[in-house]
Amino acid sequence: MSELLLTGISQVVTPFGHGPKRGAAMGQLRIIPEAAVAVDAGVISWIGPEREWRGSAESVIDLGGHAVVPGLVDPHTHAVWAGDRLADFEARSTGATYEEILAAGGGIWHTIRETAEKSSEEMAALALPRIEALQRSGATTIEVKSGYGYTLEAELRMLEAVRLLQERTQSRLVPTLLIHICPEGLAERETYREMVCKELIPEVARRRLASAVDIFVEHHAWSAEDARIVLACAQAAGLSIKLHTEQFQQVGGLELGVKMGALSVDHLEVCSVEQCGLVARSKTIATILPGVSLHLGLAAAPGRKLIDAGAAVAIGTDLNPGSSPLFSAAAAMGLAVRLNGLTAPEALTACTVNAAAALGLANVGRLEVGMQADLVVLESSDWRDLPYTLGQNIVREIWVAGRKQAA
Ligand code: NIG
Ligand code: FE
Repeated sequence: MSELLLTGISQVVTPFGHGPKRGAAMGQLRIIPEAAVAVDAGVISWIGPEREWRGSAESVIDLGGHAVVPGLVDPHTHAVWAGDRLADFEARSTGATYEEILAAGGGIWHTIRETAEKSSEEMAALALPRIEALQRSGATTIEVKSGYGYTLEAELRMLEAVRLLQERTQSRLVPTLLIHICPEGLAERETYREMVCKELIPEVARRRLASAVDIFVEHHAWSAEDARIVLACAQAAGLSIKLHTEQFQQVGGLELGVKMGALSVDHLEVCSVEQCGLVARSKTIATILPGVSLHLGLAAAPGRKLIDAGAAVAIGTDLNPGSSPLFSAAAAMGLAVRLNGLTAPEALTACTVNAAAALGLANVGRLEVGMQADLVVLESSDWRDLPYTLGQNIVREIWVAGRKQAA
């Protein structure tokens, strides 16, 4: 006898199986009409057309003719921050650029000044409503980066805040240590890098405060050579690696990430056709962030070209105050169809199984026997309403490990 049977599902729609890379083949969905899902110990124990169910269940819940998709995975957020970037928003609307604001000591530096002085309790309190908003948009697994602490102590506090948040939310949180921006002078940069490699990364690894290290490789941030040194330290400490790269300029980050076996390379707004091929021939996931293109008015990452080249693409909100104040994983999916040229099935794959792969997770992102019972029940009977609908939340319920979560 199963613990739980969910019935009355108009359609279960899910990517399936593993492709040649870490994610699934882009856009190949299994659609089960009039479906049922059985759950035992938080894991899917049976899934199929309801009329084929032969078992019995302690509890049966009728979902009332609504569509079900896997719980969305948001593989890239900076949900912990203090202060705001409203002045940047206004300045950019009158012609200043994101890079100019950053180079003048504002932008990310401003958010660091606001965030670094907070306690981990205060950081968690500020971030909780943002996590809850992502959850309401269908996200059952959410990556959260540090990167606004800058000092050793404040970076650790940011990751401690993610740990506190995990106790206060039902979604699965995946913490990442982000080595974000660097001091001006060469000597100062080297001293900071030493602190990262000799103190910060070892401490994060020892306390298991993060599962991966991310680094921002860009003209106004770290060079590819700095990143190579930092990411090698991360790998030596047993952590996975990922990169913010090819956002504004090509300075070697994508090539480095692919060569070092990064879980993902993220942003890719200026990724060339040759670079699409390079990612496609690797196991690294290409994570695109359409909220950034929308908010900063940047060219969209070449999602279509990446997929046509054979890359496994994931989609993230990049929720942060400066480049993507986007509080909805469902909206990120819908934007990727409009801005990055993905089909709706590709976008669902990119927001589920491939986003999980970008976090090194293989047990979420697909609705199959043996996978975690993380799912989204939509208001609609047709799953395509999820990427289609803009500005209205059509997520009715989310379930994590077979438990319905409070809205
Ligand atoms: O993913 N580009 C670097 N980091 C973040 C933005 C952070 C910020 O502007 O506060 C990003 O876009
Ligand atoms: Fe980011």
